[in-house]
Amino acid sequence: MKILVTGGTGYIGSHTVVELQKKGFEVIIADNLSNSSIDVIDSIGKITGIKPLFEKIDLSEQEPTKDLFSHYPDLNSVIHFAAYKAVGESVTMPLKYYQNNLCSLINLLREMESHGIRDIVFSSSCTVYGQPDILPVTETAPIKKAASPYGNTKQIAEEIITDVSKVTAIQAILLRYFNPIGAHESALIGELPLGVPNNLVPYITQTAIGKRDFLNVWGKDYHTPDGTAIRDYIHVVDLAMAHVTAIERMLEGKNKQKVEVFNLGTGIGYSVLDVIKSFERTSKEKLNYKFMERRPGDVEEVWADTEFANRELGWKAERGLDEMTLSAWRWEQRLAGL
Ligand code: WQD
Repeated sequence: MKILVTGGTGYIGSHTVVELQKKGFEVIIADNLSNSSIDVIDSIGKITGIKPLFEKIDLSEQEPTKDLFSHYPDLNSVIHFAAYKAVGESVTMPLKYYQNNLCSLINLLREMESHGIRDIVFSSSCTVYGQPDILPVTETAPIKKAASPYGNTKQIAEEIITDVSKVTAIQAILLRYFNPIGAHESALIGELPLGVPNNLVPYITQTAIGKRDFLNVWGKDYHTPDGTAIRDYIHVVDLAMAHVTAIERMLEGKNKQKVEVFNLGTGIGYSVLDVIKSFERTSKEKLNYKFMERRPGDVEEVWADTEFANRELGWKAERGLDEMTLSAWRWEQRLAGL
């Protein structure tokens, strides 16, 4: 079974490629390397013993995407990660995000249809819910107006996939991620933010390793037990395994609708301070941090209702917060050559 993984040298993509190969799938990675390193291919090879095929490609260009699918006529399914994902950057450069994230998807779907490839797993995000009215948030919660062009590309992408599935053989599973953190236990792959990290955990580990002076904790006045914002952090390996389960679900014809949506979280909300304390416990490092003003666009608290994914998809996150923060720390140490 040949699976095309777009964005497969990226953070979640690379961890998913490892889990696909462990289940015997043959993987072709398509990536433009705009936000990842070609070294990830060798790292995956070291973990699984199989170096995935790799095609450097800009999927937002129609001709190269056509060539890719002509070069691999026996693809079975697609897992689509490739997208720009920096929330802040999307606000200042909306066209870059709409053009890349939506044209890539449209080109992919067009080639899938013309080559008779039926199944796509799409990387979506809990950001589509905004600040949910009810917590934990279920898949039937209303979609809120996106707070950023990045979030809007996820919402529009879900609608494009749904509309295309109505008039073609294409069927899809949309996976709405909560907050992916951590790294593979080998510390050979992990999150590789270019420049200053936007996200909490890479900023924590870079502060502890000495690359940053201190962590800014954005907001201490939220209506939460300790005043800091709450998120549903999920280990990237748990997240990766859900993608394999989703692909198998469609290959085995177990999906019950042409488009299915699943929340991928742990169902547990942790605050920023909870994550800091977990990191200090597992790394045995004292973290330097300061409480600052809230970050514009942040929601106060969000965590997943995992019942549908656990029951219907047959997937459940297994790894706890301490395993997430420790694996992130081990990855940061390896990046520093320790
Ligand atoms: C988590 C919490 C911050 C950095 C984003 C995207 C989402 C997905 C995951 C792509 C918040 C606080 C953060 C820092 C801090 N990305 N924080 N200091 O914003 O929940 O989600 O990343 O799919 O779509 O929106 O994740 O890690 O940026 O923030 O205090 O230096 O940590 O305020 O409360 P977020 P995050």
